[in-house]
Amino acid sequence: MKSHQVRESFLQFFRQKGHTIVPSASLVPAEDPTLLFTNAGMNQFKDVFLGLGNRPYTRVADTQKVIRVSGKHNDLEEVGYDGHHHTFFEMLGNWSFGDYYKREAIQFAWELVTEVWQIPKEKIWVTVYLDDNEAEDLWGSVTDLPDGRVVRFDEKENFWEMGETGPCGPCSEMFVDLGPEADPDFTGDPRDGINVSDRFREFWNLVFIQYNRDQNGDLHPLPEKHVDTGMGFERITAILQGVNSNYKTDVFLPLLETISDVTGQPYFDDERGAPHRVIADHIRCLTFAIGDGVMPSNDGRGYVIRRILRRAILYGKRLGMDTSFIFNFIDPVIEQLGTAFPDVIPRRELIQKIVQSEENRFHQTLDRGLDILNTSLDRIVANGDSTLDGERAFELYDTFGFPLDLTQILTREREIAVDEQGFNDKMEQQQERSRAAWRASGGKGQDDQILGEIFKEHGPTEFVGYHSDSATVEVVAIVRGQEIISKAIAGEEVQLLLNQTPFYGESGGQVSDLGTIEGQDVKLQVLDVQKPISDLIVHTCQVVEGSVTPQMVLTAQIDTERRQQTAISHTATHILHSALREVLGTHVGQAGSLVEPGRLRFDFSHYEGVSSDQLQQIETSVNDKIRQNDVVQTKVMPIQEAKDQGALAFFGDKYSDIVRMVQTGDYSTELCGGTHLQITGAIGLFNVIGESSVAAGTRRIEALTGATAVQQQQMDSALLQQMSNLLKTQRSQIPDRLKKLLRDNHQLERELADFKTQLSTTQTTDLTQHSVEVKGINVVAQFVENLDRNGLRNLTDDLKNRLGSGIVVLGTGTKDNVSLIVGVTSDLTPGIQAGNLMKVIATSAGGRGGGRPELAQGGTSDLEQAKSAVSKAPQLIEDLI
Ligand code: SER
Repeated sequence: MKSHQVRESFLQFFRQKGHTIVPSASLVPAEDPTLLFTNAGMNQFKDVFLGLGNRPYTRVADTQKVIRVSGKHNDLEEVGYDGHHHTFFEMLGNWSFGDYYKREAIQFAWELVTEVWQIPKEKIWVTVYLDDNEAEDLWGSVTDLPDGRVVRFDEKENFWEMGETGPCGPCSEMFVDLGPEADPDFTGDPRDGINVSDRFREFWNLVFIQYNRDQNGDLHPLPEKHVDTGMGFERITAILQGVNSNYKTDVFLPLLETISDVTGQPYFDDERGAPHRVIADHIRCLTFAIGDGVMPSNDGRGYVIRRILRRAILYGKRLGMDTSFIFNFIDPVIEQLGTAFPDVIPRRELIQKIVQSEENRFHQTLDRGLDILNTSLDRIVANGDSTLDGERAFELYDTFGFPLDLTQILTREREIAVDEQGFNDKMEQQQERSRAAWRASGGKGQDDQILGEIFKEHGPTEFVGYHSDSATVEVVAIVRGQEIISKAIAGEEVQLLLNQTPFYGESGGQVSDLGTIEGQDVKLQVLDVQKPISDLIVHTCQVVEGSVTPQMVLTAQIDTERRQQTAISHTATHILHSALREVLGTHVGQAGSLVEPGRLRFDFSHYEGVSSDQLQQIETSVNDKIRQNDVVQTKVMPIQEAKDQGALAFFGDKYSDIVRMVQTGDYSTELCGGTHLQITGAIGLFNVIGESSVAAGTRRIEALTGATAVQQQQMDSALLQQMSNLLKTQRSQIPDRLKKLLRDNHQLERELADFKTQLSTTQTTDLTQHSVEVKGINVVAQFVENLDRNGLRNLTDDLKNRLGSGIVVLGTGTKDNVSLIVGVTSDLTPGIQAGNLMKVIATSAGGRGGGRPELAQGGTSDLEQAKSAVSKAPQLIEDLI
């Protein structure tokens, strides 16, 4: 059976059992800060399990893209060294939301495995949780699993949890016995081999979700019981293809072959092939993670991706690859998996560019880092030590881009450990610095627990703001800090929850509405509106007058001007998105946005800077569409229908099954919950004001809209007019005029410099003519025209050169700011020191000074005294020597 047939037969089987087949969710978990990457098929249904969300079906199945490289489920170390762990894999799964439970879950699994796939029954073993008699009995009664094949295990093996918190429950796992040749060392009772020996390969996990684990680690029963199953697609494919490693299936073989072709290194299916296997595994992970919008970066998900790519590069180096090459493998991955996960197809080129530029970047420091590391390791070995210090590991990370695990791969080979604590301390110090910076920039965090309670009790807030600006609302709850309160009085700032609201909560990049909520004798000013839990709209308000209590009925009124200005920016954002795709290509996808009154910021995937020509084309295209005055239509429909119509979705956003589609003219169709204009003409004007880079492969455009754009144009125009008046020329001539002025100015500066040089030569000549002799030494002592310190020093040097041997005393300056200088040629310094001379002269001038034997400087604020001190200098010198 080919791998695609395995996938299809799984989905087909569950379709026949009444399951809705849904697409894989993004690898970036939507709205779940507890997870870095989607790590199980059930993630997208977490809210259903917790009773916080609904779906229009109770039975569902899919194949889910999964990454397991951090947190509770982390398989990174095994990857490439055994045949069945991966950073990225597909997880086939079926779910019941309060519908069927253990009995049917077991029946379905048995039927698919033994009847459809025909895995011989006598090869199957099953595990259940310690006290799960029910599951053990069911395996006996609803299947014909041979007797004695159920083994019990504790929490570690048979209690499944998504992470530290969240839905969980006992599970039952299915194993296949691959026969004694799979592990010749194991000879005992098969019951002792389960979860121990490679001979028994686990392939399907049936989880009976019935608890939620909270932050304190306590279990709370869920209102309903659910089924959550997961089966590694690559593993079951290996089993069905009768091979003992996932890398021997048609999922990996073509990829391994391409790796051999590109690197020129043959593939062996033993330890020698580990680099090929690691690269094959990692490139699948990179393709789909970047495809789902994760850009390599220095923290969070982006850093995980960077680490994986750098590991792949290191393994590539072992195959002799010194320049970028991994990007070549994206094509075969997409060719193979594009049908199952079509979202990746339009991003092919972008993914290639990003991988290649990351590769190039790391190659720039890789060799240097390896040198440094090897020198350190040689020294450690020579000293008979066995640990690389944390500081060096951190330097490798910080300066040469070596993730810790990469350094560890390299040190382990020489049996040297890394001082992880030392590394972490250094890292912690660096992070504390950036956290402080983040706090200083006003970052905020919200504890959702209390709002979760309110949501459970009262359900979602109905948003009525698409069609009206005001509404009669009822106060559902009032929260102050972490407390639900029964009354808020004038002066207090509280969070207000209403049964319905016309206020748009900040989301999808669009800022919130502001406005007022009022009733008889009570008035609240709305300061901010957020949606910390989907569909729960929380109004942060200041009570301005009177007091507010739950159940009060009030009138909520949004600031309509702000709403209109925001709608202008939001509709403009959609048009900009379509213009970017038109001008730059369809690989452009939204990576983030900020939509506010009068301005917008749009981040998008693109691998190079946008040229000014392209920017102009984009701006023109948007303004053309504004003048076309196209209709903006919003429709609510099933997600599949919207996708069929080509609607663009934002990376990582979670969409329910029923979505809102915003269509502008015939060029823009997006899934969007924002508030929009009805016609594009209302935007008036769109002006790009900036283009920049935000991260590797992500660019940002900033623009002004509507009245703000007009104001900006007026200001620019006034500025031009002012320049034209000042320069006394037509606007169109300003650049030429400025160029000429700059040229003239440059010319004048040069002439002035020449003139100054001439002047100083003349002055030097003049001054030497005024030299006097004091005890056989030539002395020039003069007050000169106002010079700056540099000029004075240069003049002194010139005079010393002219005299050959002698002393120079000069003064210059204005009424209350006089500089003095004394220079002594070096032949005289053994006897006469400029510093000493300056002290005497400066004192006599009522000021201070000092310096080295050959040159001393001083100053005073008395011009007359300074002049007399300078003229008396020959006398002072005579007294001194
Ligand atoms: N959530 C379970 C797992 O990931 C079953 O799907 O193993």
